[in-house]
Amino acid sequence: MSENRIVIFDTTLRDGEQSPGCSMNVEEKLRIARQLERLKVDVIEAGFPIASPGDFIGVKTVADTIKECQVAGLCRAKDTDIDRAWEALQGAVDPRIHTFIATSPIHMQHKLRMEPDEVIEAAVAAVKRAKSHTSNVEWSAEDAGRTEPDFLCRIVEAVIAAGATTVNIPDTVGYTLPHEYGERIRTLCERVPNIHKAIISVHCHNDLGLAVANSLSAVINGARQVECTINGLGERAGNASLEEVVMALRTRKDILPYSCGVDTTEIMRSSKLVSSVTGFPVQPNKAIVGANAFAHESGIHQDGVLKKADTYEIMTPASVGLSTNRMVLGKHSGRHAFKERLKSLGHDLDNEQLKRAFERFKELADKKHELFDEDLEVLVDEEMYRHFG
Ligand code: KIV
Ligand code: ZN
Repeated sequence: MSENRIVIFDTTLRDGEQSPGCSMNVEEKLRIARQLERLKVDVIEAGFPIASPGDFIGVKTVADTIKECQVAGLCRAKDTDIDRAWEALQGAVDPRIHTFIATSPIHMQHKLRMEPDEVIEAAVAAVKRAKSHTSNVEWSAEDAGRTEPDFLCRIVEAVIAAGATTVNIPDTVGYTLPHEYGERIRTLCERVPNIHKAIISVHCHNDLGLAVANSLSAVINGARQVECTINGLGERAGNASLEEVVMALRTRKDILPYSCGVDTTEIMRSSKLVSSVTGFPVQPNKAIVGANAFAHESGIHQDGVLKKADTYEIMTPASVGLSTNRMVLGKHSGRHAFKERLKSLGHDLDNEQLKRAFERFKELADKKHELFDEDLEVLVDEEMYRHFG
């Protein structure tokens, strides 16, 4: 794989499903997995097989069906978890076992109640156990964002020596800032002697709204796998949003000279499917996939976009699978967009008619957020037939 290729690891079906109120049944997981395959993500994390019998079947069904992506299942650093994950995953074309253990002082002391050396021992044993099933093993340092850097280097070196092929450095509680998180990744690249034997992965939560920025900073500093979810679903405030990461990589090649395999024209369809399956609406101003992401209301913007789209659009609607942008006709709109919309509805008014209709439109727009085509039809009717009144 090229040095600048970013592996896109989608965890909508695992971390995304951990959004409160978001759990999915087997059929729903399979529908989303099929769409993720069309989207061409590299890895689908299908669930946490030991969590419940339903999740086991969900992971197994995805593993047995999906042919074009690696399929991963999550497990703690325990033999029973790892073996159960393997049971679910073994039918996959390229199965990945993803095992994790917490590494921050607060988690080790209060949650695990283990000494740091015991945590290293458990992590190494888990990787070896996973390795006895498959060569494709990912290990995660839960709460790596708050882990002491020397300890993180030690444990990462140990799990790579034990056979981990991907090492994931999660900012589990969304605590770090972009420069800080990037530096953490660089430190690992510089200080862990066997780091070149594994892919460094990042998994950022969005508690401070920085998950995407942190992920990109990690990439700039050496990470080559990004874990993310459709619409940014995930525990609490969610995970890094896949569509934002991928479109940033595509749009800012000058600063981010990396590639990934995602077919961006499947982004909108993926977003809509995940929203309808989970019942989680997408906020209108959500980057890339929100209803307003390619909508223009102000007259100045509309005029610019009608003359040349990239005056106000940094990516094309088609690149994310939308047929067109949207001119919203409201009180900020200008004559140019108004006239174009009337034309598209088959009405070619002369200058006088257009002037009067536009004045009337502005009066109405002060009373209504948005004027729709039906409102314009009424307006044109009024203008055409005013002499007969
Ligand atoms: O946020 C996190 O630390 C996780 C790991 C289990 C990868 O989801
Ligand atoms: Zn997570």
